[in-house]
Order: sequence, then C-alpha cells, then structure tokens
Amino acid sequence: MSYRALRLGVNIDHVATIRNARGGRHPDPLRAAVMAVDAGADGITAHLREDRRHISDDDIERLVRDVHKPLNLEMAATEEMLEIALRHKPHAVCLVPEKREEITTEGGLDAAAGHNHLAPIIRELVGAKIRVSLFIEASAVQITAARSLGSHVVELHTGAYCDAHAEGKLERRDEILRQLKVGAREATKLGLEVHAGHGLSFETVGPVAAIAEVTELNIGHFLVGEAIFTGFEHSIRRMRQLMDEARGGASAMLA
Ligand code: PXP
Repeated sequence: MSYRALRLGVNIDHVATIRNARGGRHPDPLRAAVMAVDAGADGITAHLREDRRHISDDDIERLVRDVHKPLNLEMAATEEMLEIALRHKPHAVCLVPEKREEITTEGGLDAAAGHNHLAPIIRELVGAKIRVSLFIEASAVQITAARSLGSHVVELHTGAYCDAHAEGKLERRDEILRQLKVGAREATKLGLEVHAGHGLSFETVGPVAAIAEVTELNIGHFLVGEAIFTGFEHSIRRMRQLMDEARGGASAMLA
C-alpha cells in the first residue's frame, strides 16, 4: 500500500465567529489564514453560510485575493452560492448540507437523494474548472452517488467518530473508523480523491491521518479553540506533527 501526501486544510470560520461576536474587524480571518499558511497549512477552508454567521462575502473576496494557497470554499448547493463561487473561482468548492438552525454542519450531504438538484450545480462548477468535493458519510451509496455526479473529491464526515470518542463509546468509535477506512478505499477505487474532516482534535486525528487513501484533512474549530491556550501557530504545527507521525508510523508498520 502506498501513502500519498497528506495535506492540512485549516478552517478559519471560528476566527470570524469571534470577530462577529463584537462586530468590527478583530480578529481578522485573513490574518489567521496568512498565519496558518506560515505555520504549515496547505490550504485554507472557509464556509460561507446562508446566514453569514461567521465568514462574510468580503472575507471570501480577500481570501481569494490575498492568500497564496488553495482556498476550499464550503457552501450549500444553492443558486446564490453557485453565483458567488463562479465569481470568485476558488480552487475547490465543498458542497455541504446546511440547515439554518444547526450549530454546525450536521451529517453529510445526501448525494443519492439530492442527485437531480446537485447535478446541474456540480456541472457548472466543473465547467468553471473548480474542483468539486462532496461532504458525505462514508457509505457505499453516497460514494457511488458522488462518483456518478461527477465530483472529483469526497470529504468523509468524521463528526460521528469524534463524538463517539468524546462520549467514551469506544466500540462505536472504532466501528465508525472502520467504515471510514472502507469508504476511503471504495472511493479511491472509483477514482475519487478522499478528504476527511469535522470535529478532529489532537486526540482523534491520528487514526484518520493513518488511512492511506486520505489526502487532506480539514480542521478548524479545535485549532482555533486551542489557539486560546497555546497560540494559533503552535496549535497548527502540533496538528501537522501528529498527522505526520500517524502517517509515518503507519507506513513504518507496513514496511
Ligand atoms: N469539513 C467540512 C465539510 C466542514 O463543514 C467543517 C466545519 O465547517 C469542517 C471540515 C471542519 O470541522 P471542524 O471545525 O469541526 O474542525
């Protein structure tokens, strides 16, 4: 089994959450993005929500203009968001489900049931040479649907795995991890690039980083939270180190 390089996408949404708690400009997510890149992030991820509760339209404009690493724009599959993506042409768009009342992105996109709605949006994004990723649960149905919709990437939802870990439900956690591994393998066989993310922390990142087929992790809330105690740069460097150790440890075991 060969290991591909594992990229770290740093999600800066919650820098904007703190800024918006008081209005004004501080702390600026653009400054955080530049710092994240300096600390070793391979890309920046930002979710422009319909209600603009954290990242704003102006943030997206500045991130596209001033950050010299790929921007992964997370967004709902709506006409409004499609128009914004086509205008800014980020490196990638990750389509996520979005409910107004949710605290964070709950569950994956239903790519199978949403086929007719998603197909024309994905076609337009692909036509504009934007890489398209679908944020899905690691199920065969969703992975096959993502493939038939023509997306380039699937991002496997690690939220349930992290929740099970936090709740001490270790058998459940390990079962979800097994599903993530099977899903990553199936998606790769279908020619899809595999990313993963949601809820990852220093405690939970290792086993996901060790999945050979996963090429990118998108991590935000924990890194911004940890920055309060140790600084943003330090939290990113430590995450990068744990990812590399998990990858190196896994390949050493196979060698
Ligand atoms: N990946 C996707 C598709 C997401 O929607 C989010 C949350 O915005 C993340 C990764 C990052 O999750 P977290 O902030 O919990 O690390």
